[in-house]
Amino acid sequence: MILYRAHLLWSDSLNELRDIEDGGLLVDEAGLIVASGSFDETVAQHPLTEVRDLRPHWILPGLIDLHVHLPQYESVAMDGLELLPWLNTHIFPAEARFADPGLAKSAAQQFFGDLLSLGTTTAVVYSTVHQEATDIAFREAESCGIRCAMGKVMMDQNAPEALSEDTETSLQQSDELIQQWHGKADGRLLYALAPRFAPMCTPALMRGVGTLSEKTGAYIQTHLAESLDEILWVAKLFPECANYTDVYRQYGMLNTRTLLGHGVHLTATERAMIRRAGSTIVHCPSSNAFLKSGVMPLRRWLEEGLLVGLGTDVAGGPTLSMWNEMAMAGTVSKLRCTLLQEPEATVKPAEAFHLATRGAASSLGLKDRIGGLDKGMEADFIVVDPRVVDPAKRNDDATDRVLSRLIYRAVPRMVKATFVRGSQCFIQES
Ligand code: GUN
Ligand code: FE
Repeated sequence: MILYRAHLLWSDSLNELRDIEDGGLLVDEAGLIVASGSFDETVAQHPLTEVRDLRPHWILPGLIDLHVHLPQYESVAMDGLELLPWLNTHIFPAEARFADPGLAKSAAQQFFGDLLSLGTTTAVVYSTVHQEATDIAFREAESCGIRCAMGKVMMDQNAPEALSEDTETSLQQSDELIQQWHGKADGRLLYALAPRFAPMCTPALMRGVGTLSEKTGAYIQTHLAESLDEILWVAKLFPECANYTDVYRQYGMLNTRTLLGHGVHLTATERAMIRRAGSTIVHCPSSNAFLKSGVMPLRRWLEEGLLVGLGTDVAGGPTLSMWNEMAMAGTVSKLRCTLLQEPEATVKPAEAFHLATRGAASSLGLKDRIGGLDKGMEADFIVVDPRVVDPAKRNDDATDRVLSRLIYRAVPRMVKATFVRGSQCFIQES
């Protein structure tokens, strides 16, 4: 067992932070948190334990990215187009290159390494349509130690030639990958079925996805109501459905393990449908800004009781940093507040932090295991140095101000180390 001594900070709920100034986090060989509390109490209860004094650094739970595309990492920051032309021009050609296993391996190494270095310990990931590239990515996730839910993209209509697949093959290959990877590494690796979005999926494929999710417990990830052109296209393709969300509902894809990317333009009827199903909206504010998709009213939908998490949506969003995503959630909410005169719109740093940690864990059905620093949880945590982002180099500032600087002034250098289930997966070279 190791007892880490540091300032501990984690989120209990949307508006409750937990904070222990001179804290002790006791982690056992299996990577579980045996105790978390004041250092003096913890050391008194476990007097012979090895102590690692990390002061003046802080320990926070690892960040959780609920929506990100591995094969798109090389295509970040390609400016100038909106969603559909951007997919055709930049994204599909990049994804087609993942037919090459060599590229699939090197790209996955870079991707997971960078996520860990930015403090992300759990990611929900889209691979490409390629079964082999997805298998390779899972192997890289297994060996680098990150926690992830991932799946091969599925698209059996309207997809470019190089990425098209037939319905049966898509479902069959997904099923094989589920058997291989869902629950592996003692549950650290999970499968997230990835029907890309309604325009590129037939009803038969979506029904198959729903059935596979029910049968295996795998997650479902897809895109929903991201841009207006996309919504018009869906209305044309699925006239039998009342709205975009209803496509996923009718064809069996809405359950408690469904993660719906974006949802920028959802109507009240659709939100009610999603709430009833217990599915989660993954808010991707930097992507929505970058692709000019729209401005999701995060505050209002949280108040309605929708489950919401955050995603970088690389390459829609330009960075893999969940710090940046938390900052964007706050900034975009403030812009809404001023431009649209919604005085209540502002989202606070502690709220964004909750969405990126415990809230996301809850959406994954893992709230007792990750997302916090409570006794009994798995030790997914990061070590950060708040002085790196403090021009005044304070050691004794109020917690909410420290958290605000970590979010709004984030730089990679402030993340000193990243642990998943007690194992160190990243350490910053000094
Ligand atoms: N909609 C369908 N596919 C994608 C994708 O790869 N990225 C984003 N942002 N939206 C999508
Ligand atoms: Fe996406």
